[in-house]
Amino acid sequence: MELYSEQLVSYLESLVPERHPVLQEMEQRAAETRFPIVGPVVGQFLYLLTRLTGARRVFEMGSGFGYSTAWFAMGVRENGGGEVYHVVWDESLSRDAQVYLSRLGLKELVRFHVSEAVAQLQQTEGLFDIIFNDINKEQYPDSLAVIKPKLRRGGLLVVDNALWHGAIFDESDHSPATEGVRQLTRILTHDPDFICSLIPLRDGVLIAQRR
Ligand SMILES: C[S@@+](CC[C@H](N)C(=O)[O-])C[C@H]1O[C@@H](n2cnc3c(N)ncnc32)[C@H](O)[C@@H]1O
Repeated sequence: MELYSEQLVSYLESLVPERHPVLQEMEQRAAETRFPIVGPVVGQFLYLLTRLTGARRVFEMGSGFGYSTAWFAMGVRENGGGEVYHVVWDESLSRDAQVYLSRLGLKELVRFHVSEAVAQLQQTEGLFDIIFNDINKEQYPDSLAVIKPKLRRGGLLVVDNALWHGAIFDESDHSPATEGVRQLTRILTHDPDFICSLIPLRDGVLIAQRR
C-alpha cells in the first residue's frame, strides 16, 4: 500500500540537507539491493531526536550495515560523545558497517556486536538514553519486557515500521509480523509509563518516552 503521495515523499526528502558521500553510497546500496534502511528523512529525524534528548548512550536493535547507526552517532558526537551499540546477527553486515562508520569518522563511538539484539540488550550493563528497535517484527511485543528496564526515565524508545507498509490496516492480515507491529503499538500506547506518538514518516516511527 502506498502510504503517501510521491509529491509528499520527494518534498520531505528535498528538505534533508545534503549527506556525506559515504551516507549517499549507503543509500545507493540500499536502493540497489532493496535493503530496508530508514532512509534520509527518518535518518535526519533520528539525528534530531538524538540532539534534542542530548543522548550519550544509544542502543540499536537490528542495525543492518550501519546507516541508522551513522545518524545516531553523528548526534551523539555533537552531544559531547558517548556510545552507540550496533547489533545485528549477520556477521557480514557488521563488518560492512565497521568500514562505513570508519570512513565516516564515527567508528570510535560505535560498539559492534554480532548477536541477537534482545539477548544482547539484556546482557549489556547500564541504562540507555535512546533504544531504537528495528528487529524482526514478530519479535516486537516480547522485546518490550527487556527494553523497558534498560531505558532511563525520560529516555526514548523509537520503533521503526509502526505502519508496516499499511499492512496493519488490512483486517485479513494476521501474519506474525503484522500482528507483532499491532501488538507492540497497542501495548506501548496503553502503558501509563510511556508518553507515545506515532510519526507518519516513511514506514511510521513510534516514539515512546519513559516517564
Ligand atoms: C531493517 S534492517 C535494519 C536497518 C537499519 N536500522 C538501517 O536503517 O540502517 C534489520 C536488520 O536486523 C537484522 N535483525 C532482525 N532481527 C534481529 C534480531 N533479533 N537480532 C539481531 N539482528 C536482527 C536483520 O537481519 C537485518 O539485517
